[in-house]
Amino acid sequence: MRKFSSLSNSLGTGVFARLTVKKQEVEAKGVRVIDLFVGTPDFPCEQHILDAGINAMRDPENIKYSLLDSPEMTGAVINYYKERYGVQLTADMIASCNGTQDGMGHIGMILADPEDVVLLPDPGYIAFETSALFGRARPYYYRLTAENNFLPDFDAIPDEVYRRTAYLVLSYPSNPVGAVAPPEVYKRAIELAKRYGFAVINDNAYSDIIFEGEGGSFLSYEGATEVGAEFFSLSKSFNTTGSRISFLIGDPEIVAAFRKLRSQYDFGMFMPVQAMAVAALTGDRKGVKARCEEYRRRRDALCGGLRTVGWNVPDSQGTMFVWARVPEGHGTSEQFAEELIERAGVICTPGSEFGPSGEGYVRFALVKPVEVLEAAVKAIAESGILD
Ligand SMILES: Cc1ncc(COP(=O)(O)O)c(C=O)c1O
Repeated sequence: MRKFSSLSNSLGTGVFARLTVKKQEVEAKGVRVIDLFVGTPDFPCEQHILDAGINAMRDPENIKYSLLDSPEMTGAVINYYKERYGVQLTADMIASCNGTQDGMGHIGMILADPEDVVLLPDPGYIAFETSALFGRARPYYYRLTAENNFLPDFDAIPDEVYRRTAYLVLSYPSNPVGAVAPPEVYKRAIELAKRYGFAVINDNAYSDIIFEGEGGSFLSYEGATEVGAEFFSLSKSFNTTGSRISFLIGDPEIVAAFRKLRSQYDFGMFMPVQAMAVAALTGDRKGVKARCEEYRRRRDALCGGLRTVGWNVPDSQGTMFVWARVPEGHGTSEQFAEELIERAGVICTPGSEFGPSGEGYVRFALVKPVEVLEAAVKAIAESGILD
């Protein structure tokens, strides 16, 4: 029999395949299924970003290995961070990657050793756990609970865990819980990182989808660039999910180590994709703001609608997700998600997919227009599942 590594054997195939089978069964019965499962924006990528990619594709030079981040792209990131977040960067603080998922998947390899601990939010985006596993380090999950507004309780992490920590992952507005963190969270993280000598890796994926005030950057906090770096993905702000555009930005030493690792397995970001990144970062941001407003309308339609029909779902503070407690008496989050497909034709993600503390919750992605979300609320109410 073929031998596979313990790492390979530890990877699961995930719930996606199982729920897709269930979806097909329900659709075969003629039921219209509303899919709120995957967090891919339904908005099109804006024309000026597409045009930049198309124009760059016309030049055969741009189809060669890219090897380096273009000065235009690095300059665009520098200007963007200055204007948008008030953060002054230099070129040695920026490295591109093919999406945050790719970057996260590799960051553990440069920051951790097998005896080290990685502090991860639970529940949290699945790639955070991957970062620890691929780094062959030990994940330590810090719990995010409703009672603590889904914020880290740094005092609950034992001193000996901090001592063994290689890096802490932070990410707000948070997928899947939709919470936003106040400045104290970042300040405390920086203080702990300095005290114990670990790094902070922030995932800045949703700073443009926030419903109170303006989203920011971890790097704007004093001392942040001495202790850490953040992934800055264009996927959700600019609807460029498939083009895989993200950056690791912050401490030049971390960035240099990341670049060195990356040079071993990749030749860099495809030049037409770099041109798209420049167009996104230097272009008009009206569309970004308009989409945030649309996400707010969607959040109101789903959370408000579900509350009206008897399911007490709180409003998300940010992101394109809604985090809902499984109603009493419906089993595990996966059992409830299956029941929701069967009885209401609505697909959501079981909270257990995001870590042990996700059990008891499901996640809805706001990836359909308001009228479809209203139809989902109606279908859930009429199914009798909440009675
Ligand atoms: C917290 C978080 N980070 C990163 C990503 C993905 O970023 P990218 O498309 O750059 O891999 C997602 C996507 O769902 C996410 O929820």
